[in-house]
Formats: sequence, C-alpha cells, structure tokens
Amino acid sequence: MEVIIRPTVDAAAGLVAELVAAGIRENPRLVIGFATGRTMERVYALLVKEHRERRLSFAQVTTFNLDEYTGLPKGSPDLYRSYMQERFFGQTDIEPANTFLPDGNARDLDAECADYEERITRAGGIDLQLLGIGAVGHIGFNEPLSALRSRTRVKALSPQTIAQNAGAFGGDATKVPRRAITMGVGTILDSRRVLLLATGADKAEIIAKAVEGPVTSMISASALQLHPRCTVVVDEAAAARLTQQEYYRWIFENEPEWKAYQ
Ligand code: GLP
Repeated sequence: MEVIIRPTVDAAAGLVAELVAAGIRENPRLVIGFATGRTMERVYALLVKEHRERRLSFAQVTTFNLDEYTGLPKGSPDLYRSYMQERFFGQTDIEPANTFLPDGNARDLDAECADYEERITRAGGIDLQLLGIGAVGHIGFNEPLSALRSRTRVKALSPQTIAQNAGAFGGDATKVPRRAITMGVGTILDSRRVLLLATGADKAEIIAKAVEGPVTSMISASALQLHPRCTVVVDEAAAARLTQQEYYRWIFENEPEWKAYQ
C-alpha cells in the first residue's frame, strides 16, 4: 500500500481522475470498478471534462460498480444506477451494455450476486478498482465483520452507514434501504489495482485506522493492506491522523512513477 497526500480536495480527486485517464489511454479496453458517494462526484466530473475537452474515450471500457441498494423501485433517482447515469454514463461515450451494477430488484438476489461475480470473471477481472471509504471503514457496503474473503452478496447496512447515507435521501434515515448488494472484500482484493480516495476531516480517523492499524474485519478497508497494488489518495484534512506522513510525502516527491503527477 502507498499513501499519497495532496494539498486540497480538488488536487486529491484530480490525481485519481488523472490516474484513471492514464489507465484508459494505456489500455482503452480497461475494466474499471466504480464507486459512488459524495467523494467520487468530483472524480466523475473531472473524467467527463477530460472526455469533452481532451477526447478521452470510454467507448471500449467496461465498468462494474461496487454496490447497489435492494428494494428501491426501478428507475428510482436514489439507485446507484441513477447516480452513475446522471454523473457519468449519460455524459460520456460509454457503451451502456458495458456498464454493470448489481440488480437490487432481481427476484433471486443470491443468484444475482453469483451472476455478478461471473460477469466480472468473464470480463477478465477488474483492472482498476476505485474506492471511497464509509464512516465505519467500509469499502463498497462491506460493513463491520464482513469476511475478508467475502464475495458479492446481500449485506445488511449498519446504523452508522444508514445515518451517513441519509443525506442522499433528503436527510430521512427511514428512507435509506436496509440492505444492499455489494462486491465482497475478496472480490475487491482480486482487482489488479486499487485506488482509494478519501477527503475531509471526517475521514481522518478512519483512514488512520484502515491504513496504519491492524487488518481487521471490523474495518473492511484495512484488508487493502493485503493488496499488492493499492494507492490511498487523501487530502491534507483526511491525512491529519496518519503518523508516517513524512515518509508518504517523500514517496510522492521522489519515486519516479509519481514524477508525471507533481
Ligand atoms: C457509500 C458507498 C461506499 C462509499 C461511501 C462513502 O456508503 N456504498 O462505496 O465509499 O458511501 O461515501 P462518501 O464519499 O459520501 O463519504
């Protein structure tokens, strides 16, 4: 794992967007794992800008989102499918047939989960997985005690996650679905490269635990310490509780792979 600290929210999101764009320019058929949440909105906006102003094409890209709520009506604006459509799919040249999210309305949810895993395998696996981090330290909706080898499945949301996500439901926690389909921690760990983005002071404590604390199923993001190629990008506010900041800064300033992104 490596940690990159950028001065502002915009610089942190900008670096993630640049890394995604570079990945697509290198391999136009990239298989990307997408994440939702407020943090990612900036990244999608920057990728849309890159598409419009610098002709970055998503035409051959395949995407798999991490998670989707269950039980929301088809077409609901609160679905992660709608979030993706509004902020990214609908604004780029991506092929709709190549955009996958779990179907939280499937009649047989377990079959849908197994099918999702199979679709990822058939696509050749995920090349680049984007992640945010929840207040409980979840990645996707891998709530506390999610098995570190878990695969795509239905998960009950924790009270903290329901409270955190209530903002997207007009602040009304009772409207937040109680369950979601999520890629498992094991599914995420199978991707070839992981980029986790966290910004703002609210994330400082959980980032320190996930990055510098012990690997524990209580904080599913800590499992990323097991991943061979994981980069955690944070702004100064989210970096505040990390103890090895000096070392992380040295890496970004001196390691050749980061030269192009200074
Ligand atoms: C939701 C998503 C997570 C995301 C998290 C962070 O819970 N399921 O994948 O990482 O939100 O949200 P935010 O970026 O709004 O803090």
